[in-house]
Amino acid sequence: MELTKARVLILGMDGYLGWALYCYLRNKVNIVEGLDNFSRRRHVHEIGSESLFPLPAETGQECRPIYTHDLVYNPAKVHKFIEEFNPTTIIHFAEQPSAPFSMRNSSSAAGTQRNNVVGSLNLLWMLREHPHIHLVKLGTMGEYSDWIYKNNVEIPEANRIEVQYQDTDITIPTPRWAGSFYHWSKVFDSFNLEFACRLWGLSATDLNQGVVYGTRILGMADNELTRFDYDSYFGTVVNRFIVQSLTDIPLTVYGSGNQTRGYININDTMRAISLAIQNPPPKSTCRIVNQLTEVFSVNEIALMVQQLTGCAIESIDNPRLENEEHTYNPTFNKLEEWGLSDPHKMEQMLPSMLEDVKPFSSRILRDVIAPETKWTGRYYAH
Ligand SMILES: NC(=O)c1ccc[n+]([C@@H]2O[C@H](COP(=O)([O-])OP(=O)(O)OC[C@H]3O[C@@H](n4cnc5c(N)ncnc54)[C@H](O)[C@@H]3O)[C@@H](O)[C@H]2O)c1
Repeated sequence: MELTKARVLILGMDGYLGWALYCYLRNKVNIVEGLDNFSRRRHVHEIGSESLFPLPAETGQECRPIYTHDLVYNPAKVHKFIEEFNPTTIIHFAEQPSAPFSMRNSSSAAGTQRNNVVGSLNLLWMLREHPHIHLVKLGTMGEYSDWIYKNNVEIPEANRIEVQYQDTDITIPTPRWAGSFYHWSKVFDSFNLEFACRLWGLSATDLNQGVVYGTRILGMADNELTRFDYDSYFGTVVNRFIVQSLTDIPLTVYGSGNQTRGYININDTMRAISLAIQNPPPKSTCRIVNQLTEVFSVNEIALMVQQLTGCAIESIDNPRLENEEHTYNPTFNKLEEWGLSDPHKMEQMLPSMLEDVKPFSSRILRDVIAPETKWTGRYYAH
């Protein structure tokens, strides 16, 4: 599909990626619109933090052009909106994205799974009526557990894998396992998505995204920056380290710091999603794309930030249920096959992130950085 012909609907357009994508696409596609229930703002406020970059009010003159709709509590309204707007592509960001938030208490866990699993299910039932719409759904690389893909076994970029079981070659769904109730919601989503594609002839791209970092996309004006969180619940590691390096609090490395993950700059996330829009899969297909461009351990990231700022680094007890010593061997060929060349390098992007964050350093809330929620899994065994 030519980008200039695409009619794009963004679900979750007030979020970190949703707002950036709107700014990225607005002059590239035929039309882009979006909706949000503004729950991310409420959740961040609830844990005592705010976006480091100030956000416009939800309503009023200066507000963003976002429709207020909720995928879980008012799916009929969302369905009507889809029918009227008639998109070629829907980008689905509208989920609760924080693992620690989902592990806070029973209400956060249930709220996360209800919001993510039920919201996505509602959307799939809507698309059953409109199977020509290409759904681009954000999954996460956190669906591939390191206790399954150990000893350097490759993480696949596919929905099915061939294995030998009881002397027979069989095809099975790609194994997934999660380390938080948020990640479980993503695993459930993935299976529901693939099932619905086969059942109803839908066409979907499941973008299993690595950790995104970055303060802005190229060309974004200073007065339209996307939200930027650094607290222990919603701040992803690179964004959090950059903010921490401006305080006298050492960078908080959880445990040994050898946890290795895939990362992608926010500009490349935008490019990857726009390539997904241009390359819809055939009917009845749920295509898996692993969306990452670099692999680092937490220690490597901490050292890069330290080299830039001279900040201190401190290892603290790991609040998460995760293996700290493991191999990590993800396949990520599709983005390159589609033409995503010269991805941004984290080391080169960190100085400009620091420059973007510095003017807001008086807004940094020091109390929200140390992790409060711990789920080390005292009784957990694989
Ligand atoms: N940011 C990352 O590093 C990262 C990494 C892997 C995957 N992801 C996934 O990408 C997606 C977007 O992430 P993000 O960082 O922009 O998160 P975000 O919280 O900033 O954005 C999600 C937006 O969706 C809205 N929303 C949530 N539930 C909704 C509902 N029921 N109805 C309407 N709107 C709703 C929220 O208010 C929020 O504005 C999420 O699905 C997340 O799991 C993000």
